[in-house]
Amino acid sequence: MTSHATAARRAAQVLRENRRTGYSDGAGLAYDYTCPSPETYPFQWAWDSSFHAIALLHVDTERARTELSSLLSAVTGTGFLPHMVLWQDDLRPRATAEFRIDLWEGWRSVTIAPPVVARAVERVYEATLDLAWLKRTLPAVQGFFDWLHRHRRSPRTGLIEIYQPDESGLDMSPKYDEALGLAASSRATVRDDWHAAMRRLIDGYSHDRRPESPLREARAFVWNDVLVNSIYADGLTSLARMQAEVGAPAALSESTAAAARDIWAALIEHCWDPERGAFFDLDLVSGRRSTVLTASSLFPLIGDALPEPIAQRLIHEHLLNEREFWLPNPVPSVAATEPSFDPTFATGAIFRGSSWVNLNWYLYWGLRDRGYFDEARHLALRTSACVAAQGLRECYGPYDGAGHGARSFGWSSLVLDLLHAQGLAPEDLAAEDLAPDLLDESALHDAHRLRPTEV
Ligand code: GLC
Repeated sequence: MTSHATAARRAAQVLRENRRTGYSDGAGLAYDYTCPSPETYPFQWAWDSSFHAIALLHVDTERARTELSSLLSAVTGTGFLPHMVLWQDDLRPRATAEFRIDLWEGWRSVTIAPPVVARAVERVYEATLDLAWLKRTLPAVQGFFDWLHRHRRSPRTGLIEIYQPDESGLDMSPKYDEALGLAASSRATVRDDWHAAMRRLIDGYSHDRRPESPLREARAFVWNDVLVNSIYADGLTSLARMQAEVGAPAALSESTAAAARDIWAALIEHCWDPERGAFFDLDLVSGRRSTVLTASSLFPLIGDALPEPIAQRLIHEHLLNEREFWLPNPVPSVAATEPSFDPTFATGAIFRGSSWVNLNWYLYWGLRDRGYFDEARHLALRTSACVAAQGLRECYGPYDGAGHGARSFGWSSLVLDLLHAQGLAPEDLAAEDLAPDLLDESALHDAHRLRPTEV
């Protein structure tokens, strides 16, 4: 079996085995979702589920719809969509201890995740053309984007704020070290120091914590994250298209599209560093921009609104730079030139140097949409090779491809979408006699041969 066939087979297997169904007494709702990892992450996580839904399109479109419907059934009356939905009544006590989280109404985390959900709903709709499902689903998505606008917008920059590092999903990224007081931590202690700093932060917030608590006023951690805002702006663009699709008034979809443009403009105004040619997060407590070059510095590439000269600088000076991000298994979560770069997972801390399939997936489409077909294909096939060799792990070594972190990890199944985009659908991959050119990484430019997603 070819390595890409192996990657696809393993991905489909994890999507099958990580499915969780049942009824939650705590929530008073039935659930049907894919957990990120049976041992490490048993609950439903918002951005994970959004990625799972996209991967599920290649194996079971009905489950792709259900995955998102289950997630969106957790949206509150105010429009808040939690990062974690702790459906299982019996697993909740362990989780609150292990993940140190405050819950809302007993079963939702009070934190947010990057709003990948809009792009996921759009992808599922494009693949299924199920307009009735879209009409049922869209109000919750729109409710959450409205909630973010109402409760998380910085008055000064207009960008979305997060109040603790894990709200970006990039928990231990070194870009947060200074703000968390970890600048002096050694490689040996950074993971424990991060946990202690998070505990202090969360304990400080804990009094009467609600999703809408005005945490900006605590001035403990107030952050405009480039990755979160890029995903938010990209999501607004998807939302605007879907509003038009369901026949919403033109003024609504136009104002949603305009809100996306405002975010891209604010990112350029506040986070673009013209000297370094990259984007950096804004720490609104210290008033300073982060200086650590990470994969999120490249994330504005995921949208189509970036001025071409800026996109070119991101791609040529950084993404394709072999000293920074274009390593044997791109794209590391931290540039190889950073002192904090940890390519071997020696720190045991996530997002400090390993390559992640979800980040690669976004950057893949950013490259491809700009016509970088060869580079995008290389990124897809290297990602697939890591998954084939190591199974679905949480992240991979950018030099040796070694798998690290959680096992049977859900969003690494995005490899199915990356392979499909190369014209390698699961049923082709199952064939013994794959045409050799499909396996040759230099046989590129087949983006034009893409077939529509099978429904
Ligand atoms: C870790 C990651 C977060 C992810 C979760 C479940 O906490 O930092 O981004 O959503 O695991 O996979």
